Amino acid sequence: MKIVSGTASKHLAGKISDLLGYPMIPVEFKRFPDGEMYLRFTGEVKDEDVVIVQTTGPPQNENLFQLLLLVDTARDLGARSIVAVVPYVAYGRQMQRYRPGEAVSAKTIFKLLKNAGIDYFITVDFHSPEMLNTIGISVQNISAIPSLAHFMVQNNFSSAFSLAPDKGAVKFVEAAARIMNGEYGWLEKKRDKITGEVTFELKDLNVKNKDAIVFDDIISTGSTMIHAISALKKQGAKRVYAACVHPLLIDDAMERMLQAGATKIVGTDSVLSSVSVVSIAPVVTEALKRWLR
Ligand code: R5P
Repeated sequence: MKIVSGTASKHLAGKISDLLGYPMIPVEFKRFPDGEMYLRFTGEVKDEDVVIVQTTGPPQNENLFQLLLLVDTARDLGARSIVAVVPYVAYGRQMQRYRPGEAVSAKTIFKLLKNAGIDYFITVDFHSPEMLNTIGISVQNISAIPSLAHFMVQNNFSSAFSLAPDKGAVKFVEAAARIMNGEYGWLEKKRDKITGEVTFELKDLNVKNKDAIVFDDIISTGSTMIHAISALKKQGAKRVYAACVHPLLIDDAMERMLQAGATKIVGTDSVLSSVSVVSIAPVVTEALKRWLR
């Protein structure tokens, strides 16, 4: 087996290669003067099982196209099988047509990946897991929430209150609360499909003088977290952490969450950022071992 990394996941691919004990194939990346990308495998992949690691956070289109080039080139060079490890899948939130005429972008991404020649797909806390049964590719959708929860326990947050900022995140707080041995709850969030405006229903959370953690899959603009952090602070929570799997942290999301009362923001290296204190390399490595068996 050989590991190949795109430019968005070098750090993660290196860790996976160390944990699995299989070598990396270096790839040369260049940029043409007009902005087009160039890449070249500098080692043999013929008749090999090839694991391509490339997350697709911002700049999404660049990272996605590089992933497609890597997969298609590995296939063209005679790889025996191709596993794509894509921790964060760009466009994963657009999985249905909410308004007539809209692009169902997530479907398009999987069509492209399948046609490029992947045999197996590993992703982490994919936003719309039910969709993965319809894409015609064998998939493992693993979760990094237990790794985040263990990190919290190691940092003296056992029995903290776990809050889901919306119903979609309830599965995350159920999993986290089991590990942390604490209570959990959730907020009701509504997003206007046309304007994108988000509103929250107020709820009594019973968090006075308690430490709390908001768990979510993605922090993008930080708005969802800010509502949850503010609700916890208003109801007297002590320390409030914001924990996520995919820290996209667009613009001043970090500062805004801290201003809203967050003590700390914690994320994984699914998308490498200043808050990536938990590595997903061990859970991805276990997923690859399961695939190998
Ligand atoms: C949406 O349902 C997701 O789970 C996240 O809550 C959302 O993507 C976060 O986005 P933002 O940080 O922009 O509120």
